[in-house]
Amino acid sequence: MTDQPTRTLADGVEIPYLGFGTYLIPDDEAADAVAAAIAAGYRHIDTAEVYANERGVGEGLRRGLAAAGLSRDDVFVTTKLWPQGPGGFKSARETLDAFDVSLDKLGLDHVDLYLIHAPYEPGQRLDQWRALVELHENKRARTIGVSNFNAAHIEELAAAGLPLPHANQIELHPWSQKPGIVSSLAAKNITPIAYSSLAPLSTWRTAPGHGSSKTDAQRAEGRREDSPFKTMAAKYGVTEAQLLLRWGVQKGYPVLPKSTKPARMRENADLFSFRIDDTDMATLDTMDRGDGLAWDSDPTHAG
Ligand SMILES: NC(=O)c1ccc[n+]([C@@H]2O[C@H](COP(=O)([O-])OP(=O)(O)OC[C@H]3O[C@@H](n4cnc5c(N)ncnc54)[C@H](OP(=O)(O)O)[C@@H]3O)[C@@H](O)[C@H]2O)c1
Repeated sequence: MTDQPTRTLADGVEIPYLGFGTYLIPDDEAADAVAAAIAAGYRHIDTAEVYANERGVGEGLRRGLAAAGLSRDDVFVTTKLWPQGPGGFKSARETLDAFDVSLDKLGLDHVDLYLIHAPYEPGQRLDQWRALVELHENKRARTIGVSNFNAAHIEELAAAGLPLPHANQIELHPWSQKPGIVSSLAAKNITPIAYSSLAPLSTWRTAPGHGSSKTDAQRAEGRREDSPFKTMAAKYGVTEAQLLLRWGVQKGYPVLPKSTKPARMRENADLFSFRIDDTDMATLDTMDRGDGLAWDSDPTHAG
């Protein structure tokens, strides 16, 4: 599928470590962004029903692949079910319908990875997961997983006798390392996919309306010349963004940097020519602050 480094999921599907995130990219800008990302070397694109940009993402895929002389199978595409619909939590039937709408907008006949975006309500998430299992069996999604699930949510799927997800997309970066959930995923051979890797940067989600729970003090911290990430990045001759993304890759997490700026897309893709040494990885391990900055369980703030 790609000559980029990949991680093999429990069912043998290979997911490229480098993905392109599209949250907060409006539908009418998504085609240009995705086409530019493919030109910059990305072979893995992450979108979601709730991002309301699947149509633009699909157009960008077609344009980007054609310009690069690539085919559909050269790119790994993820989208996600939003658990709620106009009439409340989606049933299994409504989940299958939502998947069809996503495929139609993307202009694809299958996705590589389909995720339940968030857990919310117990009865509903089991039914939605049953629908994803059906989509996997019918080969409409090459593999399936969840997002923002904790260890108990995953236990619940196991207790219901259902197949386990192959991936769980969660916020992971040195400030939010989630050792408990990460070790429970490892025990079940479920791959963590890291989102919001760049949250510690002062430049993270600064555009108007781009919500986060990041405080002014945390942003000021990121601007300090002696910030630990700046110091460490300088040692390797890379940027802080590259250091944060490389941390994820070395932990074994596929990463999903988002940018609308082609120069930053290229910078964020250049992760495989340096290695953070063991001492610095150990130092980064000490920086965990617990909960993340992107996800606050409020559906209106989802990413
Ligand atoms: N499953 C979930 O619930 C969930 C939640 C959040 C995110 N995600 C996924 O993960 C992706 C990434 O997460 P994210 O969008 O929160 O954040 P991110 O990729 O960690 O960071 C993006 C922010 O950093 C800026 N940025 C990007 N590259 C930079 C660089 N090299 N130097 C300085 N600033 C840079 C971007 O600004 P510009 O665009 O202006 O460059 C933007 O404000 C999302 O797009 C989405 O696909 C999933």
